[in-house]
Amino acid sequence: MGIWRYDGVARRAGREDESRSTVGVDMGELRGTHVPVLLERCLELLAPALGRGGRTVHVDATLGLAGHAEAVLQAHPDTVLVGLDRDTEALAHARVRLARFADRIHLEHAVYDELPEVLDRLGYSTVDGVLFDLGVSSLQLDAPDRGFAYAQDAPLDMRMDQTRGVTAEEVVNTYAHPDLARVLRVYGEEKFAGRIASAIIRERERGRITSSARLAELIRDSIPAPARRTGGHPAKRTFQALRIEVNRELAALEAALPAALDRLSVGGRLVVLSYHSLEDRLTKQALADRVRSTGPIDLPVELPGSEPTFRLLSRGAELPGEGEVEANPRAASVRLRAAERIDPQARRQGRTDRERYRRRVKGMHQPGTGTATGSASDPGRGPGETTDEEGEGT
Ligand SMILES: C[S@@+](CC[C@H](N)C(=O)[O-])C[C@H]1O[C@@H](n2cnc3c(N)ncnc32)[C@H](O)[C@@H]1O
Repeated sequence: MGIWRYDGVARRAGREDESRSTVGVDMGELRGTHVPVLLERCLELLAPALGRGGRTVHVDATLGLAGHAEAVLQAHPDTVLVGLDRDTEALAHARVRLARFADRIHLEHAVYDELPEVLDRLGYSTVDGVLFDLGVSSLQLDAPDRGFAYAQDAPLDMRMDQTRGVTAEEVVNTYAHPDLARVLRVYGEEKFAGRIASAIIRERERGRITSSARLAELIRDSIPAPARRTGGHPAKRTFQALRIEVNRELAALEAALPAALDRLSVGGRLVVLSYHSLEDRLTKQALADRVRSTGPIDLPVELPGSEPTFRLLSRGAELPGEGEVEANPRAASVRLRAAERIDPQARRQGRTDRERYRRRVKGMHQPGTGTATGSASDPGRGPGETTDEEGEGT
């Protein structure tokens, strides 16, 4: 998630945004300072994969306003970008912003679970970097007419892709009580899901609920007064839940993560920025499936094909620093996870080398067996690297 501050001047990182002046498209409400979340950390994690010489391919699965994508293209002059977004408005803005990189970008209107088809069409069998910056963009949240924000009155739409799918208005006015309550409880972690669902059902018997302000008011009135005073705006969780339901966000992510991991080349890296626990849990699970062996645990050797195919680059979920949250309050809930595809054969060889080295060092300390005089540097490990044995936990 990035943030645009509307200060009437088009700048990014304190300088004029060149892309605006190069193309005759009205960037209207996007004038402001866009701060992509954990930008430096994302660049740092992607650099070894994208900057390894020759042409590399990076997928930004959630292009949004192209803050991350622009920085990647700037940092890696030989990298080709495949940028996906299901929101045509976001794509139009991204196209303007990235105009100066036109000869090495492919911007695609697609849901990210369509990534394999997009890559096949473009002729890329593998890619080197993938970034998911999940959730809504500031453009969507701040747009007065999209219905994502409980603080603004707008038609209850909430579709990221306004060309297809059901709207929040349809969900609110047609779902039966148990379905509505489940959506609010599971996707919004809303304690008062049942009460809010009942209030919605009662209200829609009087007339169709069509506006975000009416819904926000209904939610506020349906929860107990003491609960209204804690945990932010009372409508926040319900709006998040409806957005997730309308956009089928978790189903798309569950399919997209394995598909993206499958397309990464050896040395290729995936970075995921999640903003709520359900997204982060799906990410953790998708990575856990690849970083552990699938062979029988009681076998002393790894069966071919059962070795881990990825290694984690983050220890658990990385959180934003205080400075990041201060500069960009919407970064407060971010959780970063990252992984790199490894070559199982090289890993096996590395293990054998390390084993041989350990035996040699042990031999040096046993009287009468010490023939080894070589250096004690570990052949299997580069400077500052952790190994899988040292455990990069989830
Ligand atoms: C948080 S924003 C990305 C911001 C971007 N990293 C930047 O720096 O400007 C998330 C974007 O992902 C898009 N998006 C969300 N779910 C998607 C999906 N399933 N498929 C494709 N795009 C999606 C949204 O429309 C939104 O524009």
